[in-house]
Amino acid sequence: MFLTRQEERILAGEEGVGRQRAMELLVALGKIYSAERLVPISSAHLSGVSYKTIGDGGLDFLTEMSRDAKVTVKTTLNPAGMDLDRWQEMRVKEEFAEKQRAIISAYDSLGVETNCTCTPYLAGNVPEPGQNVAWAESSALSFVNSVLGARTNREGGPGALAAAIIGKTPLYGLHLTENRLPSVIIEAEIGDGITDYSLLGHAVGQKIGTSIPFFKGIRPGVDGLKTMAAAMAAAGSVALFYVEGITPAASSVDLKGLETVSIGRKEIMAAKNSLTTGKEPDLIALGCPHLSETEVTNLASFLDDKRKRSDAPEVWFCTSRTVKTWCPKEVAVLERFGKVLCDTCMIVAPIEGIHSCTATNSAKACTYLPGLCSQKVVCDSSERLLEAVF
Ligand code: F3S
Repeated sequence: MFLTRQEERILAGEEGVGRQRAMELLVALGKIYSAERLVPISSAHLSGVSYKTIGDGGLDFLTEMSRDAKVTVKTTLNPAGMDLDRWQEMRVKEEFAEKQRAIISAYDSLGVETNCTCTPYLAGNVPEPGQNVAWAESSALSFVNSVLGARTNREGGPGALAAAIIGKTPLYGLHLTENRLPSVIIEAEIGDGITDYSLLGHAVGQKIGTSIPFFKGIRPGVDGLKTMAAAMAAAGSVALFYVEGITPAASSVDLKGLETVSIGRKEIMAAKNSLTTGKEPDLIALGCPHLSETEVTNLASFLDDKRKRSDAPEVWFCTSRTVKTWCPKEVAVLERFGKVLCDTCMIVAPIEGIHSCTATNSAKACTYLPGLCSQKVVCDSSERLLEAVF
């Protein structure tokens, strides 16, 4: 891979050990994927934040990197293993909390913004169309590729951090126009609820794996798009999709000769049934990906005239600190029924051993809850799930 003189100097360690390690990682990735050169990025988003997922090895790596390196572009952070203020209410152990705080403090020393959310594009990290970025978090990177029209590969946490430190990423994959063409048409006929879009994403992800789908027949808003992106990335590895009449580049791509796959209510029902493994949830967790302001507002108006049952299961509404600050009145309504948690989610928090059956309206969460959190799962719309609460 071609390196400029300055990039050679970084690789030789002339700008410190942290930058040298970051450059080594980018060069290794570039060689693996036959990148010609590095390309500048305008922002990064990092995964690998929860102590549950990165452990002591991850904490040591971040501590070492934070000694003499800093990010050089706007860089945001994925959810951590706990609400940094309300972790005791989540029954997180003190030892976990201490390690989690150390991880956040290492990111802070690196210059990363520590508003931990998987919807940074709703909270100030909004790349422009055509910009190259280095984003981890499969749901968020699919959203920026597809809905915002920026360009990122499916980065892992260390690769995104290295790119953030150097301000560049290897030029390959989805940074190149020729790799961003749709490869299959999805004719969808489904309902218009958030859970319908989530289950559609799940069914499509399972069917097409890493292909690039072009959707016809649906009109999702931002919340439908974000939950579809999350589900497709979790069930398959979809990192880019088009929706006719909705996503910006959909009108300019060529669909000639592409195979068409039909997904209807039968497939949506099958997806829902396959994801449901439990019956009586002791936790209802909404906000995968993190709830938007619209979702918080809709949930609050749904619950406003209702009264909580005394035997209701615990409820989590997961969102970003930014959104929580924007709608205090709606948050107060939700707090009558559960906890509005920030910085974290039902997957990266250590819920195993505390809860055993979790209900959610997110197909992505349903995919990960059994394996990553040892949970039985109930999959349904938020309105139906919340019936257990009032
Ligand atoms: Fe976000 Fe956690 Fe879901 S990081 S996309 S809420 S698994």
